[in-house]
Amino acid sequence: MDTNLVGVVGCGAMGHGIAQITAQAGLGVVVCERGPEPLEAGLARIDASLARLEAKGGLDGSAADVRARIAPTVDVADLADCDLVIEAVDEDLATKLGVWRAVAPLLGPDAVCATNTSSLSVIDQAVVTDRPDRFIGLHFFNPPQMMSLLEVVGSVASSDAAVAVGLAYGRRLGRDVVQAPDRAGFLVNRLLLPYVLDAVRAMEGGFGTIADIDLGMRKGTGHPMGPFTLLDFVGLDVVMAMTDVMFEEYHETRFSAPPTLRKLVAAGFTGRKSGRGFYDYATEPPTPLD
Ligand code: 3HC
Repeated sequence: MDTNLVGVVGCGAMGHGIAQITAQAGLGVVVCERGPEPLEAGLARIDASLARLEAKGGLDGSAADVRARIAPTVDVADLADCDLVIEAVDEDLATKLGVWRAVAPLLGPDAVCATNTSSLSVIDQAVVTDRPDRFIGLHFFNPPQMMSLLEVVGSVASSDAAVAVGLAYGRRLGRDVVQAPDRAGFLVNRLLLPYVLDAVRAMEGGFGTIADIDLGMRKGTGHPMGPFTLLDFVGLDVVMAMTDVMFEEYHETRFSAPPTLRKLVAAGFTGRKSGRGFYDYATEPPTPLD
């Protein structure tokens, strides 16, 4: 099945990037948000990112051409003609199920639904739709404009044809595509989560400061961001949600939340987006808070 028109539900941290790179690949996009304010904020992020890419010659065509392929809406009914719909809303199962209950009945019989969840089960979402066989996971990485990996996830109910749609879409976007199992955290987060959680445990245990652990991992191992900078970048609430889901599935202590992480989230210090997490973003450069 050809994918020509892609729906993206959510224009936040991940959704705006998914909509953008899909349009950059020449596909039409309908991006849907729950209200005008978050929609405008997401579109502004797309415009800023396209301007950066255009300025350094990193776009095929102009930013205006790419932007013209993105149709913004606050009405889910506008997704009706999409061949593929990807949800990128909050990492909360009830919220995602609400999206699918509203969107799936509107779609044509061949349309494929996909979740960009970081860790929730694909099949748990698929079963609330009329098309568990045409429901897959498409897991992008943050920021989608810069991270070229796409995990394509088939559930126990996904058809080979639906998985093939996901693989073809990823290749059309020029992504590096891997297939991953429908297990909490898929492939990459299963490896990444214990690493960042262990960095918090190392800090709690007095092995090093936030600044030294970040510097050590950047300069000693070539990571583009140290683990605390990465935690704040992804969002501590998102990491906390992933941690809980993965611990529930695997019952391994390496997936359990360190106390500092849980307390920062309880306080609303969710990282860069809230201005405070393991670092304070009111200063430039950000100040480590340990
Ligand atoms: N749009 C367009 N261009 C962007 C961009 C965006 N959104 N973000 C960064 N860039 C470009 C900048 O313009 C810059 O280009 P230049 O070098 O040609 O000037 C380049 O990327 C570098 O950006 P910065 O100088 O602002 O900052 P960095 O050098 O630190 O790079 C980064 C930013 C690409 C985000 C880099 O720090 C990085 O790779 N960090 C690691 C990110 C990561 O690990 N992501 C995965 C998180 S886990 C996940 O997503 C899973 C989920 O389930 C939770």
